[in-house]
Amino acid sequence: MKSRILVLLAVIALSLTPAVLAQNATLAPTPPMGWNSWNKFGCNVSEDLIRQTADAMVKSGMKDAGYQYVVIDDCWQVARDKDGNIVADPQRFPSGIKALADYVHSLGLKFGIYSDVGSKTCAGRPGSLGHEYQDARQYAAWTVDYLKYDWCNSTTQDAPSSYALMRQALDASGRPIVFSICEWGRHKPWLWGKEFGGNLWRTADDIQDRWQGRVKWPAGDCCSNGVVDIVDLQVGLESYAGPGHWNDPDMLEVGNGGMTDTEYRSHFSLWAILAAPLIAGNDLRDMRLEVRDILTNKEVIAVDQDPLGSEGKRVKKNGDLEVWSKQMKDGSRAVILFNRASGDHEISVNWEDLGYPNHLEAAVRDLWQKKDLGRVTGKFSATVVSHGVVMVTVRP
Ligand code: GLA
Repeated sequence: MKSRILVLLAVIALSLTPAVLAQNATLAPTPPMGWNSWNKFGCNVSEDLIRQTADAMVKSGMKDAGYQYVVIDDCWQVARDKDGNIVADPQRFPSGIKALADYVHSLGLKFGIYSDVGSKTCAGRPGSLGHEYQDARQYAAWTVDYLKYDWCNSTTQDAPSSYALMRQALDASGRPIVFSICEWGRHKPWLWGKEFGGNLWRTADDIQDRWQGRVKWPAGDCCSNGVVDIVDLQVGLESYAGPGHWNDPDMLEVGNGGMTDTEYRSHFSLWAILAAPLIAGNDLRDMRLEVRDILTNKEVIAVDQDPLGSEGKRVKKNGDLEVWSKQMKDGSRAVILFNRASGDHEISVNWEDLGYPNHLEAAVRDLWQKKDLGRVTGKFSATVVSHGVVMVTVRP
């Protein structure tokens, strides 16, 4: 059995030619940005919601800030027809998926969809097992630009070969489609996701709209995570990310109501320093100004989207007080002073923590206050509120 799987893997690996891999690298040169229905709406998806969300993405300034993909998660699909073709819910998507994709494209945005490796999705809808090429052809005919491919009901399937199979099917469809591997980090997709054509891969189980706390799913299968649990799970994975292939700590919860705005700013800042995909998960049609201002902070987004594609890392930890740093293409550093404690604290960073000599003078700019803080030598300190960040660039 094991040797059959190895042979299959070798065959799949050989057929992922350098040209295909090169094409995949151009699909997501910087971390994908967009919106996905799941975190806020779960199974309550419809063509009206998707159209209105696409409109809101443009009107709110999110499109101008770089958001691009509008992705329908689980529950758009209800059955297969007699020929095995996947069928969209006719009540919720009466105009059909192609018309919806056309609408999203007409706004200058891109369109994404969801399926699953197994026979059923996590919500019990038809999955793609045994229909991989047929589904990929259908997505291409619908002009889909992005596929999120989940891991529920995968039973005894092998993770790398299951994802490689769908990547091959997408490539065979002839349409460039961003491939989002949603395998929750169970089989270390950072080790094989790039080789098998993934553009992003989940590194952890699902995020939920809370600051902290891992909670077991009712089925007993581990776990949903708060923001800081996910952040801790990213430590050590930095070297696996780069242009075309990103670690994905899951979609954003900013604006969904379970955290304070300070916590949402920290969530967004940390995702940016991690070079994470920025996939909003709130109701874009009805955003408080504070939420919109977090999601559209162009200087923080520029950290996420820096073309070098280097993932930031934790460079200092003193109990609940942390410093995170990301190398930028121009040689500067983006830096987060992160206070996980329940009271306010001063946090300092020495240039040596950032890979600079301490005698260097550098310009410091605060990305949330949008203010230059002057030129300093060797060290920067700030008081950081509980659960908050101070996010700066340090430019010698
Ligand atoms: C899994 C995924 C989520 C979402 C749901 C849909 O839990 O990790 O992101 O796609 O399935 O059922």
